[in-house]
Amino acid sequence: MAGVFSAQRLAGKTVLVTGASGGIGAATAILFARAGASLILTARRQAQLDEVKRAAEQANKEGATGKGGKVVTLTLDMQDRKQIKGLLDRIPEELREVDVLVNNAGLVYGREQVGDIDEDEIDTMINTNVVGLISLTQIFVKEFKKRNRGHVINLGSIAGIEPYAGGSIYCATKHAVHAFNGSLLRELVGWNIRVTCIAPGMVETNFSITRFRGDEDAAKKVYEGITPLSANDIAEEIVWAASRPEHVNIADVLVFPSAQASAIINHRGPQNGGK
Ligand SMILES: NC(=O)c1ccc[n+]([C@@H]2O[C@H](COP(=O)([O-])OP(=O)(O)OC[C@H]3O[C@@H](n4cnc5c(N)ncnc54)[C@H](OP(=O)(O)O)[C@@H]3O)[C@@H](O)[C@H]2O)c1
Repeated sequence: MAGVFSAQRLAGKTVLVTGASGGIGAATAILFARAGASLILTARRQAQLDEVKRAAEQANKEGATGKGGKVVTLTLDMQDRKQIKGLLDRIPEELREVDVLVNNAGLVYGREQVGDIDEDEIDTMINTNVVGLISLTQIFVKEFKKRNRGHVINLGSIAGIEPYAGGSIYCATKHAVHAFNGSLLRELVGWNIRVTCIAPGMVETNFSITRFRGDEDAAKKVYEGITPLSANDIAEEIVWAASRPEHVNIADVLVFPSAQASAIINHRGPQNGGK
């Protein structure tokens, strides 16, 4: 851990993770905690945030630095612009100087094709994955500029690089995240502020359960015959990017399971070269 993540570089830093109540966000929180960072964990579900906070506090104690960072949780609905605007004031003063913003909250609904997509679900995906992410980033980029220091890490997706049938709205939202990330990277080139886009392929979390509106069997089928990425696999990429020396910016990372090669090309069954 110390070698790969250079935990010393993260000890004492403050990291805000959105969508920290489960999946990639929760795994990321725990890895940052292990590296001695303090955490601000946000999501809508407080009970799940409390669980992640407990695990992060434990990881903090057992971590490489032995120094306990602080962990606070704040409920935040990324669809609610008012809540986003008020977030900075709700952060305890000693953690208000955030070093790393991890824009992780996001979701997909359904496989319906254009013409049959529920209008409310379109709003939820666009407001969560794009509008909320942009509003929150505006706040923290302003803060980062005041200190000429900071790091924005956006969760993109292979869906933000390659559109697929049955994913038009989600793909559109993730293309927007990739474009936003790219503009921000260019805007901040004269600042000591880093911008990273991490684009995962298939990660087994609650993501597909949400996509299939709670149908766990349908969600399981997505990963049939494949060893998908775990939330921790992506958390490692996020924490790795954040722990590079300050002059190193990991701009783009595309991460697949070894049995996936594009949004729609994957190999189910043993990877034995067809023998
Ligand atoms: N899993 C994959 O295959 C995959 C692939 C590529 C990219 N990604 C991206 O990775 C990110 C994390 O996904 P995951 O796989 O970890 O899925 P997950 O397990 O379903 O977690 C999603 C997280 O987003 C939060 N969230 C959803 N809507 C929210 C809202 N309106 N306000 C605040 N938080 C909200 C959820 O918290 P609450 O419900 O408590 O609010 C939850 O913590 C997403 O941006 C997703 O698009 C995932």
